[in-house]
Formats: sequence, C-alpha cells, structure tokens
Amino acid sequence: MSSASASASAEPPAPRGVAVVTGGARGIGEAAVRRFAADGYPVAILDVDAGRGEKLAAELSRDGAQVAFHACDVADPDTVAAVADRVAAEFGPAGVLVTSAALIPNTESIMDMDLSAHDRMWRVNYHGTLHACRSFGRQMVDAGAGGSIVTVGSINSLLPLPLPAYNPAKVALARLTQLLAAELGRHRVRVNSVAPTYVMTPELQARIDAGQRDLGKMMGVHALDTLPLTADVADAIAFLCSPQARTITGVLLPVDSGWAASVSYMTYSGGVPWQKPNTR
Ligand SMILES: NC(=O)c1ccc[n+]([C@@H]2O[C@H](COP(=O)([O-])OP(=O)(O)OC[C@H]3O[C@@H](n4cnc5c(N)ncnc54)[C@H](O)[C@@H]3O)[C@@H](O)[C@H]2O)c1
Repeated sequence: MSSASASASAEPPAPRGVAVVTGGARGIGEAAVRRFAADGYPVAILDVDAGRGEKLAAELSRDGAQVAFHACDVADPDTVAAVADRVAAEFGPAGVLVTSAALIPNTESIMDMDLSAHDRMWRVNYHGTLHACRSFGRQMVDAGAGGSIVTVGSINSLLPLPLPAYNPAKVALARLTQLLAAELGRHRVRVNSVAPTYVMTPELQARIDAGQRDLGKMMGVHALDTLPLTADVADAIAFLCSPQARTITGVLLPVDSGWAASVSYMTYSGGVPWQKPNTR
C-alpha cells in the first residue's frame, strides 16, 4: 500500500484542546463560544470588551463549562502572543481557533473615507486574524495533535460592496485562509472560513432602525426569505471543526441564505421571471 493511500484511510483524531474564540464576547463569536462550551470544549474568549467577556465566561462556568476570558486587542501581535501563552498555561495548547474579532463599518467612499479608521480596520480585521492564526497555529503545530482554524469572512469576501476597508480585507482573509490551509495541512491543521451574509443581530437591527441598512433591499437579493442567526453561523463553524469535516480544508463556506446565488439574478435588467404576470 502506498503511503498516500495509507494516510487516506487513517482516521485523524478529532481536534482536541481548548477552543479559542477571538471576538467571543458578542455576536457570532459569542455564539461560537456557547456552541463549543456546549460541545464540551474548554473555551478561551479573547476580546477587548472585558465587561461582556467576563460576564459570558462567568455564566457558562456557572453552568459547568470551563470558560476563561482574556482581555486582548488582536491588533497587537505581542498581546496576542502573551495571551496565547496564558491560555496554554491554563488549558494546554489550542485545538480550535475561531477568529471573529472585527470592526464593522457603514457605507463610505474611498475618496472621503477617514484613513486612520481605514488603517485601524485593517489592523483589527486582517492583521488581528493573522496574529491569532500565528500564535495559536504554532501551538497546534508544536503539540502535533492537529487542529482546526476557522476564520470569519463575509459575503464581502465574494463581491465588491461599498465598504472600502472592510471589503478588501475580507478578500485578503479568504486568500490568507487558503495559504494557511496549504502551509498547515501537513501538520493536520485544517483552515477554513465561513462567509455569512447579513446576520440578524441586535446590532444589525439597530443599523436598520437607524437607516444605515435597507431591509427591503437586503431581503430582495437572497434566495431564502430568512437571514442567518448567529447560532446558524456557529453551527457551520462547529461542522468545519468536527471530524465530519476531516478532509475539508481551504474552503470558504457561505452561510448566506443564497445571497451569492441570487444577488446578480435578482438584479437582472430583464427582470425576475416570477415577478412577471402568469409566472410561477
Ligand atoms: N453581523 C454580520 O452581519 C456579519 C456578516 C458577515 C460577516 N460578519 C463577520 O463576523 C464576525 C463577527 O461579527 P459580529 O456581527 O459578531 O460582530 P460584533 O461587533 O457583534 O462582535 C465583534 C466582537 O469583536 C470584538 N472586537 C472588536 N475589536 C477587537 C479587537 N481589536 N480585539 C479583540 N476583539 C475585538 C468586539 O468587542 C465584539 O465582541 C466579523 O468578522 C464580521 O466581519 C458579520
């Protein structure tokens, strides 16, 4: 039997070790924290929001889970490295990493955008992901037990939208995910990404209420009539980290209610067929 077919039939171990979630105090990150805690992982929450992060860790710990909060600005590589050491000292090396920490902007033009806000968004959204993948990826490689990293992309990873710092950073993250998958595969560390469409969070509802997002326009370009909840994105993340995804690496999994399939179809200049008379 060739070594290739021998390794194809070997059952890799499920990821072990602590599940680390950046941006885990709120939103999609919080849903991932709740999911991994429910699945029996020790969980480390890394976030700048100490109030929410500590409260979440205390709530889940009261319910019997092993959850710790670490204040961490992912934009600072030294802070991320120091926190990674503290997480390893407490729980052992990371088995799972989810990079959900990000700043989320409103529409703006390249001509008029604030450059310092642009640069800060890259430092948090792109560099912050890179820092976490390096610090916790090294733990996975050194521990030799495999692992799973899920970066959080967006429909912005797929097509241009008028968010001039956020949109190209999400494209860059999709490519970074592929590079990491190629580099770390030989260590049985899988690296994938999820690409959610607009997720119905209290923050999105507030942006709709403030006129910063148009619900009618939003719903008009999805195949399904419902948007994902944070728990739906956490389910996709949990799948990508599960043994059922043992041969999946380097992919960008849309959690998008059919946005990618529908956005050009629904805006076709010849019209949408079923909006014409006598069409199903
Ligand atoms: N909400 C959506 O509709 C949506 C859609 C597609 C993709 N996403 C992506 O999902 C991820 C999470 O989004 P969300 O809606 O849950 O956002 P959110 O604002 O609810 O949560 C982001 C979390 O990141 C933390 N954070 C911000 N800056 C940080 C920093 N420098 N260091 C550490 N933590 C920091 C925040 O404190 C917060 O807890 C992001 O990558 C976002 O781009 C969100």
